[in-house]
Amino acid sequence: MNLTLHVWRQKHAHDKGRFVRYEARNISPDMSFLEMLDVVNEGLIARGEDPIAFDHDCREGICGMCGFVINGIAHGPRRGTTVCQLHMRSFKDGDTLYLEPWRAKAFPVIKDLIVDRGAFDRIIQSGGFISVSTGGAPEANSVPVPKENAELAMDAAECIGCGACVAACPNASAMLYTAAKVSHLGLLPQGQPERHRRVLSMVARMEQEGFGSCTNIGECEAACPKGIRLDFIARLNRAYLTANLLK
Ligand code: SF4
Ligand code: FES
Repeated sequence: MNLTLHVWRQKHAHDKGRFVRYEARNISPDMSFLEMLDVVNEGLIARGEDPIAFDHDCREGICGMCGFVINGIAHGPRRGTTVCQLHMRSFKDGDTLYLEPWRAKAFPVIKDLIVDRGAFDRIIQSGGFISVSTGGAPEANSVPVPKENAELAMDAAECIGCGACVAACPNASAMLYTAAKVSHLGLLPQGQPERHRRVLSMVARMEQEGFGSCTNIGECEAACPKGIRLDFIARLNRAYLTANLLK
Protein backbone atom coordinates (compact mmCIF):
# COMPACT_ATOMS: atom_id res chain seq x y z
CA MET A 1 0.00 0.00 0.00
CA ASN A 2 1.07 3.59 -0.61
CA LEU A 3 -0.41 6.44 1.41
CA THR A 4 -0.04 10.18 1.71
CA LEU A 5 0.25 11.47 5.25
CA HIS A 6 -0.21 15.04 6.45
CA VAL A 7 1.32 14.98 9.92
CA TRP A 8 1.13 17.75 12.51
CA ARG A 9 4.71 18.77 13.33
CA GLN A 10 5.20 20.99 16.37
CA LYS A 11 8.55 21.35 18.13
CA HIS A 12 7.15 22.24 21.59
CA ALA A 13 4.06 23.67 23.32
CA HIS A 14 4.82 27.25 22.23
CA ASP A 15 5.72 26.47 18.62
CA LYS A 16 3.01 27.36 16.10
CA GLY A 17 3.01 23.93 14.42
CA ARG A 18 2.03 22.95 10.87
CA PHE A 19 1.07 19.97 8.72
CA VAL A 20 3.94 18.36 6.80
CA ARG A 21 3.32 15.98 3.90
CA TYR A 22 5.01 12.55 3.82
CA GLU A 23 4.67 9.59 1.49
CA ALA A 24 4.36 6.15 3.14
CA ARG A 25 5.55 3.61 0.54
CA ASN A 26 5.32 -0.21 0.40
CA ILE A 27 3.25 -0.54 3.55
CA SER A 28 1.92 -4.00 4.39
CA PRO A 29 -1.83 -4.12 5.18
CA ASP A 30 -0.89 -6.33 8.14
CA MET A 31 1.18 -3.61 9.79
CA SER A 32 -0.29 -1.70 12.69
CA PHE A 33 -0.68 2.04 12.25
CA LEU A 34 2.27 2.64 14.57
CA GLU A 35 4.43 0.18 12.60
CA MET A 36 3.59 2.18 9.48
CA LEU A 37 4.83 5.31 11.29
CA ASP A 38 7.97 3.39 12.33
CA VAL A 39 8.66 2.76 8.62
CA VAL A 40 8.13 6.44 7.77
CA ASN A 41 10.42 7.41 10.66
CA GLU A 42 13.18 5.04 9.51
CA GLY A 43 13.14 6.85 6.18
CA LEU A 44 13.28 10.26 7.91
CA ILE A 45 16.18 9.17 10.13
CA ALA A 46 18.06 7.78 7.09
CA ARG A 47 17.70 11.20 5.43
CA GLY A 48 18.93 12.96 8.58
CA GLU A 49 15.49 14.44 9.32
CA ASP A 50 13.69 14.62 12.65
CA PRO A 51 11.40 11.56 13.13
CA ILE A 52 7.70 12.07 13.91
CA ALA A 53 7.18 11.93 17.69
CA PHE A 54 4.25 9.81 18.89
CA ASP A 55 3.45 8.14 22.21
CA HIS A 56 3.29 4.36 22.63
CA ASP A 57 4.26 1.61 25.02
CA CYS A 58 2.43 -1.76 25.14
CA ARG A 59 1.14 -1.69 21.54
CA GLU A 60 -1.51 -4.14 22.78
CA GLY A 61 -4.34 -1.72 23.56
CA ILE A 62 -3.92 -1.91 27.33
CA CYS A 63 -1.56 0.81 28.57
CA GLY A 64 -3.29 3.95 27.28
CA MET A 65 -0.11 5.62 26.03
CA CYS A 66 -0.92 5.81 22.34
CA GLY A 67 -3.48 8.03 20.69
CA PHE A 68 -3.85 10.75 18.12
CA VAL A 69 -6.48 11.92 15.67
CA ILE A 70 -6.68 10.32 12.21
CA ASN A 71 -8.82 12.20 9.69
CA GLY A 72 -10.71 13.92 12.48
CA ILE A 73 -11.42 10.77 14.52
CA ALA A 74 -9.67 10.03 17.82
CA HIS A 75 -7.81 6.68 17.46
CA GLY A 76 -8.95 6.44 13.83
CA PRO A 77 -11.91 4.87 12.06
CA ARG A 78 -12.29 1.49 13.83
CA ARG A 79 -14.62 1.59 16.80
CA GLY A 80 -13.33 0.20 20.09
CA THR A 81 -9.73 0.19 18.86
CA THR A 82 -6.65 2.05 20.07
CA VAL A 83 -4.34 3.41 17.39
CA CYS A 84 -1.73 0.74 18.26
CA GLN A 85 -4.28 -1.98 17.50
CA LEU A 86 -5.48 -0.34 14.30
CA HIS A 87 -4.15 -2.11 11.21
CA MET A 88 -3.40 -0.69 7.79
CA ARG A 89 -5.99 -3.03 6.25
CA SER A 90 -8.54 -0.57 7.68
CA PHE A 91 -7.39 1.87 4.96
CA LYS A 92 -7.22 1.76 1.18
CA ASP A 93 -4.21 1.99 -1.09
CA GLY A 94 -3.81 5.64 -2.12
CA ASP A 95 -5.60 7.07 0.94
CA THR A 96 -4.67 10.52 2.26
CA LEU A 97 -4.57 10.72 6.06
CA TYR A 98 -4.32 13.73 8.38
CA LEU A 99 -2.68 12.99 11.74
CA GLU A 100 -3.06 15.44 14.61
CA PRO A 101 -2.46 15.37 18.37
CA TRP A 102 -5.32 15.48 20.90
CA ARG A 103 -6.56 19.09 20.92
CA ALA A 104 -7.45 20.32 24.43
CA LYS A 105 -6.20 23.20 26.56
CA ALA A 106 -5.58 20.79 29.44
CA PHE A 107 -3.35 18.60 27.21
CA PRO A 108 -0.55 20.86 25.93
CA VAL A 109 1.46 19.50 23.00
CA ILE A 110 4.89 18.20 24.02
CA LYS A 111 6.00 17.45 20.46
CA ASP A 112 4.24 16.54 17.20
CA LEU A 113 1.58 13.94 18.11
CA ILE A 114 2.50 13.72 21.82
CA VAL A 115 0.52 15.65 24.41
CA ASP A 116 1.06 16.06 28.13
CA ARG A 117 -1.70 14.11 29.93
CA GLY A 118 -0.35 14.97 33.38
CA ALA A 119 -3.76 16.52 34.13
CA PHE A 120 -5.21 12.99 34.22
CA ASP A 121 -2.54 11.92 36.72
CA ARG A 122 -3.37 14.90 38.94
CA ILE A 123 -7.08 13.96 38.88
CA ILE A 124 -6.10 10.47 40.09
CA GLN A 125 -3.78 11.92 42.74
CA SER A 126 -6.66 14.00 44.07
CA GLY A 127 -8.78 10.95 44.97
CA GLY A 128 -8.41 7.95 42.66
CA PHE A 129 -7.19 5.59 45.36
CA ILE A 130 -8.31 3.74 48.49
CA SER A 131 -6.55 3.91 51.85
CA VAL A 132 -6.14 0.44 53.35
CA SER A 133 -3.94 -1.06 56.02
CA THR A 134 -1.27 -3.14 54.36
CA GLY A 135 -0.54 -6.65 55.54
CA GLY A 136 -1.81 -10.11 54.67
CA ALA A 137 -4.61 -10.28 52.09
CA PRO A 138 -7.98 -10.89 53.80
CA GLU A 139 -9.87 -14.06 53.02
CA ALA A 140 -11.60 -13.32 49.68
CA ASN A 141 -15.08 -14.41 50.81
CA SER A 142 -14.97 -12.14 53.87
CA VAL A 143 -15.80 -9.09 51.71
CA PRO A 144 -18.85 -10.03 49.63
CA VAL A 145 -19.45 -7.91 46.52
CA PRO A 146 -22.79 -8.10 44.66
CA LYS A 147 -22.20 -9.57 41.20
CA GLU A 148 -23.81 -6.61 39.44
CA ASN A 149 -21.52 -4.17 41.26
CA ALA A 150 -18.44 -6.28 40.59
CA GLU A 151 -19.22 -6.34 36.88
CA LEU A 152 -19.96 -2.63 36.68
CA ALA A 153 -16.75 -1.86 38.58
CA MET A 154 -14.81 -4.01 36.10
CA ASP A 155 -16.47 -2.21 33.16
CA ALA A 156 -15.36 1.13 34.63
CA ALA A 157 -11.88 -0.22 35.38
CA GLU A 158 -11.36 -0.85 31.67
CA CYS A 159 -10.56 2.84 31.16
CA ILE A 160 -6.90 3.03 30.11
CA GLY A 161 -6.59 6.81 30.49
CA CYS A 162 -5.79 7.41 26.83
CA GLY A 163 -7.58 10.79 26.61
CA ALA A 164 -9.57 10.11 23.42
CA CYS A 165 -12.77 11.12 25.24
CA VAL A 166 -11.33 14.57 25.90
CA ALA A 167 -10.07 14.93 22.33
CA ALA A 168 -13.43 13.92 20.85
CA CYS A 169 -15.51 16.22 23.06
CA PRO A 170 -16.22 19.71 21.68
CA ASN A 171 -15.99 20.96 25.28
CA ALA A 172 -12.74 19.01 25.94
CA SER A 173 -14.50 17.53 28.94
CA ALA A 174 -12.87 14.83 31.05
CA MET A 175 -16.17 13.66 32.51
CA LEU A 176 -16.07 10.17 30.99
CA TYR A 177 -12.57 9.52 32.31
CA THR A 178 -13.34 10.90 35.80
CA ALA A 179 -16.68 9.07 35.86
CA ALA A 180 -14.95 5.77 35.09
CA LYS A 181 -12.41 6.26 37.87
CA VAL A 182 -14.97 7.44 40.46
CA SER A 183 -17.36 4.59 39.58
CA HIS A 184 -14.69 1.91 39.60
CA LEU A 185 -13.79 2.60 43.24
CA GLY A 186 -17.23 3.80 44.40
CA LEU A 187 -18.89 0.51 43.42
CA LEU A 188 -16.64 -1.66 45.60
CA PRO A 189 -16.74 -2.05 49.40
CA GLN A 190 -13.07 -1.07 49.66
CA GLY A 191 -13.88 2.28 48.05
CA GLN A 192 -16.68 3.26 50.46
CA PRO A 193 -14.82 5.08 53.29
CA GLU A 194 -13.54 7.81 50.93
CA ARG A 195 -16.46 7.72 48.51
CA HIS A 196 -17.86 11.23 49.08
CA ARG A 197 -14.52 12.93 49.60
CA ARG A 198 -13.20 11.25 46.43
CA VAL A 199 -15.88 12.51 44.06
CA LEU A 200 -15.75 16.08 45.37
CA SER A 201 -11.99 16.20 45.14
CA MET A 202 -11.68 14.60 41.69
CA VAL A 203 -14.37 16.82 40.15
CA ALA A 204 -12.75 19.93 41.68
CA ARG A 205 -9.37 18.91 40.24
CA MET A 206 -10.91 18.19 36.85
CA GLU A 207 -12.30 21.74 36.74
CA GLN A 208 -9.05 23.24 38.01
CA GLU A 209 -7.14 21.53 35.18
CA GLY A 210 -9.22 23.41 32.59
CA PHE A 211 -11.37 20.60 31.20
CA GLY A 212 -14.79 21.69 29.96
CA SER A 213 -18.21 20.63 31.19
CA CYS A 214 -20.32 17.77 29.86
CA THR A 215 -23.27 18.81 27.69
CA ASN A 216 -24.38 15.25 26.84
CA ILE A 217 -23.05 15.22 23.28
CA GLY A 218 -21.80 11.64 23.54
CA GLU A 219 -18.71 11.89 21.33
CA CYS A 220 -16.62 10.62 24.26
CA GLU A 221 -18.45 7.29 24.35
CA ALA A 222 -18.19 6.95 20.55
CA ALA A 223 -14.43 7.58 20.62
CA CYS A 224 -13.60 5.49 23.68
CA PRO A 225 -11.56 2.43 22.66
CA LYS A 226 -12.66 0.59 25.82
CA GLY A 227 -16.41 1.09 25.52
CA ILE A 228 -16.82 3.21 28.68
CA ARG A 229 -20.50 4.11 28.65
CA LEU A 230 -22.18 7.48 29.13
CA ASP A 231 -24.22 6.11 32.04
CA PHE A 232 -21.05 6.27 34.14
CA ILE A 233 -21.34 10.06 33.77
CA ALA A 234 -24.88 9.86 35.19
CA ARG A 235 -23.44 7.79 38.06
CA LEU A 236 -20.75 10.47 38.62
CA ASN A 237 -23.37 13.23 38.68
CA ARG A 238 -25.45 11.33 41.26
CA ALA A 239 -22.39 10.64 43.40
CA TYR A 240 -21.40 14.33 43.22
CA LEU A 241 -24.90 15.51 44.19
CA THR A 242 -25.10 13.06 47.10
CA ALA A 243 -21.65 14.04 48.37
CA ASN A 244 -22.62 17.72 48.25
CA LEU A 245 -25.89 17.11 50.12
CA LEU A 246 -24.03 15.22 52.87
CA LYS A 247 -21.30 17.82 53.26
S1 SF4 B 1 -12.87 6.88 29.16
FE1 SF4 B 1 -12.21 5.78 27.28
S2 SF4 B 1 -11.46 7.38 25.91
FE2 SF4 B 1 -11.53 8.26 27.99
S3 SF4 B 1 -9.49 7.93 28.85
FE3 SF4 B 1 -10.75 6.16 29.48
S4 SF4 B 1 -10.36 4.62 27.87
FE4 SF4 B 1 -9.65 6.58 27.01
S1 FES C 1 0.48 1.58 23.08
FE1 FES C 1 -0.54 0.81 24.87
S2 FES C 1 -2.64 1.16 24.42
FE2 FES C 1 -1.64 1.69 22.57
